[in-house]
Amino acid sequence: MSANPILAPFPAARPRRLRRTPALRAMTSETTLGVGNLIWPIFVTEVAGGEGEIPSMPGVERLTLDGARRAAERAAKLGIPAICIFPHSDPDKKTEGCERAWDPENIGNRAIRAIKDVAPDLAVMTDIALDPYNINGHDGFVQGGVIVNDETVEALVRMALAQAEAGADILGPSDMMDGRIGALRSALEGAGHQDVTIMSYSAKYASGFYGPFRDAVGASGRLVGDKKTYQIDPANRAEALRCVARDLAEGADMVMVKPGLPYLDICREVKDRFAAPTFAYQVSGEYAMLEGAIRNGWLSRDVVAESLLAFRRAGCDGILTYYAPQVAELLA
Ligand code: PBG
Repeated sequence: MSANPILAPFPAARPRRLRRTPALRAMTSETTLGVGNLIWPIFVTEVAGGEGEIPSMPGVERLTLDGARRAAERAAKLGIPAICIFPHSDPDKKTEGCERAWDPENIGNRAIRAIKDVAPDLAVMTDIALDPYNINGHDGFVQGGVIVNDETVEALVRMALAQAEAGADILGPSDMMDGRIGALRSALEGAGHQDVTIMSYSAKYASGFYGPFRDAVGASGRLVGDKKTYQIDPANRAEALRCVARDLAEGADMVMVKPGLPYLDICREVKDRFAAPTFAYQVSGEYAMLEGAIRNGWLSRDVVAESLLAFRRAGCDGILTYYAPQVAELLA
């Protein structure tokens, strides 16, 4: 970062000189967006008839296992480096004990294996949190109205090992329990999965922008209360930085800020302070805002690439975005 940029007074300095032609603009462009910066989150359902478009996310579909295979082939062909699986699980099989979260045959683990079969070089990322299998929609166990930390971490470890066993390359703990990164890391080391990477949702805020996602995974009707006792208050900056520092110290390979666009200040600060691989999640509500306005004719589709470039300008190495395949096609 240039701390003291020198700018001659007008008319010696005319910044418009460098904006005059496409060639001059290309020479002085500071940021790039490439297909290598994209991670594609997909929803995979095990519910008969559960596939199809998500009403609050027009253009995004819940996929069957076959659909997930096709998505993986598409991602590989486009050069998207990673796909991230979110399970839409059978609502009748959700329990308080969340036992299916670490079942090798749960829909998430089946999707990992299905994708690895058709696209072995595509990195497969997972979500670690109990909510898809939890009868009350929380990311952790609920005991007496409280989301309990340490018992949840034990379950997350079981969940992570099952995912690693199924062939996941990147584990994404999105639960925000304390101590989970260290616990996951040592369990992976102990089980011979020392090369499985962790992208920690380190700075995950208690955000209203997750609404459409909760529709997509069928958690909306389930969630009792809110997630404010584990996700970060949107008012807080220093706390997010402490959580990133802690997760890196516990062995996270990569860190994430979530949501994305409204939290770019945090992205920039995380990248500058820790110089670690830094990612952001352009979440479902951000997608819904852009796509809703685009479909209404209120915004041009150019805002999609512009929004992703903004993440790059803020220091992000990559972005989880539902627009990944569309943007990859645009870049090709
Ligand atoms: C839950 C999880 C959420 C998202 C990813 N993992 C929702 C939540 O915390 O309630 C949100 C993603 C999005 O909104 O696109 N473990």
